Amino acid sequence: MVFIEIVLVAFLACWLLYRWLTVYYDEFEKRNVPYEKPYPMVGNLGSVVLNKEPVQKTVIEFYKRNKMHKIVGFFNFRNPVYVINEPELIKKITVKDFEHFPNHTPFINVDDDPLLAGMLNIMKDQRWKDMRNTLTPVFTAAKMRNMFPLMNECFSECIKKLKTKMPNGSCEFEMKQFITRLSNDIIASTAFGINVNSYQDPNNKFYNVGQSITRFRGSQMFKFMISNVAPWILTYLGMKIFDKEKTDYFTRLVIDAMKYREKNNIVRHDMIQLLLEAKKDSAQHWSDEEIVAQCFIFFFAAFENNANLICAASHELMSNPDVQQRLYEECLEIKEELQDQPLNYDIANKLKYMDMVLNETLRKWSFASFTDRVCSKDYKLTDEDDNFVFDFKLGDRVWFPLGGLQMDEQYFENPDVFDPERFSDDNKGNIKPFTFLPFGAGPRNCIGNRYALMQAKAMLYYLVINCKLERSEKTVKDIFNDMRGFNVNPQGGFWLRFVSRK
Ligand code: HEM
Ligand SMILES: *[C@@H]1O[C@H](CO)[C@@H](O)[C@H](O)[C@H]1NC(C)=O
Ligand SMILES: *[C@@H]1O[C@H](CO)[C@@H](O)[C@H](O)[C@H]1NC(C)=O
Repeated sequence: MVFIEIVLVAFLACWLLYRWLTVYYDEFEKRNVPYEKPYPMVGNLGSVVLNKEPVQKTVIEFYKRNKMHKIVGFFNFRNPVYVINEPELIKKITVKDFEHFPNHTPFINVDDDPLLAGMLNIMKDQRWKDMRNTLTPVFTAAKMRNMFPLMNECFSECIKKLKTKMPNGSCEFEMKQFITRLSNDIIASTAFGINVNSYQDPNNKFYNVGQSITRFRGSQMFKFMISNVAPWILTYLGMKIFDKEKTDYFTRLVIDAMKYREKNNIVRHDMIQLLLEAKKDSAQHWSDEEIVAQCFIFFFAAFENNANLICAASHELMSNPDVQQRLYEECLEIKEELQDQPLNYDIANKLKYMDMVLNETLRKWSFASFTDRVCSKDYKLTDEDDNFVFDFKLGDRVWFPLGGLQMDEQYFENPDVFDPERFSDDNKGNIKPFTFLPFGAGPRNCIGNRYALMQAKAMLYYLVINCKLERSEKTVKDIFNDMRGFNVNPQGGFWLRFVSRK
């Protein structure tokens, strides 16, 4: 008898779990929106979860199959999201009727962690608006100009290391690991106010703790998935996504630096300084924790993204020698203009071809293959001719398929070809608005785009000036299809051969 009861209970548990995992799967049917059949739990992300393809590919292929619909249903695990395929409609939602869609979907459950809940991308509504207003002055061109010398110190350490690797005039190595150290040192310096040199001191604490937080692997990945699917399990077990010991380390760094500077009147042109000033000028009374959260965001928003942009651009330069040569010539001109001065913000912004190369890299690689919004007030979506499209309800989630649009041949001819000329003065006017959105759109777009571009431009300048990028034996051929999971992460890495220019 006991045996039968156990079987029954097990059966019931499985059925409940299945019900729970698929409870929203009739949503699109009910609301009359086309969709593709989801699988339990993984929704339409099966190939990503099973490690068969990168999320970029899923988004791009889904877009290609469904672009004839203005709006189409997608299951992000068990949650339904409405994918908006039309550039004009994306404009309406992100810009014109922004107040109906002011927030992102939280990417992790943050209720019991003030440090995470305080990050700008997670904050909501009025609190977000206040913090965004506080931070906007921090990311202006003027502030970036002052911050540039701090970055320069890190570039010069990086190049120094690169040179020691090629005593015989050339070398080859995996670039992502190499550049991640640069990314790390720049964040330490510009966001957390401390100098670390991960090239000379590869095992420094800042690097190790930062890596353990940003690498979504193993138990970290598992906790992340649970927090996405069933956050109450973590709460029940008293677990946090990030170990308190680690977050405490970064919190202490920032708080101690703020105190020390206020007491000793020290000025250093980094994020902490700017946040201290912003805190003083702002009508809001931000707590220390809320300020620390803005430094913390660099780990999630800047760390991977910046390294990826530099690696992907280098890979494209290697694959397209003509582009590389032209960029080299442009950099040489600037180098002569600078004589022996280090690069600075204004000169970096004169690198016009560089800008085209980076934009084309952002287009083709779609680092953010989609971005999202949540509906906060019921909303009737209509198209340009005022025809009814859809009735959004409070809580509906919306995705914009940035990667799909950027790889759509209707907007970008031969989208698989890397061609910076798309962004030349003559051609860039032909790009249809709201089809090229590597940093998102509207008031909720990426606040760090200037910072990201500045860093990538400068690093590529130093790289191209110092060496020629060539294919290595280990370079992955079809690098896009070698990626897996939710990051830009080719399994075979970014292998390159570096040949000294001197
Ligand atoms: C190549 C580099 C980067 C790419 C491709 C990128 C892309 C994006 C995208 C697509 C969004 C969503 C925008 C939207 O929904 O409209 C976003 C948001 C954001 N990004 Fe970036 N980003 C990059 C680098 C950075 C850096 C260096 C920072 C540094 C602070 C940063 C900070 C943020 C923040 C704070 C948000 C949320 C803004 C808000 O909610 O108000 N990003 N980013
Ligand atoms: C450089 O060349 C020397 C002699 O040709 C050789 O002994 C040395 O191993 C080479 N170093 C590297 C890093 O390839
Ligand atoms: C590159 O894209 C940005 C928008 O992300 C734009 O402001 C800039 O003008 C573009 N540069 C070129 C050369 O097209």
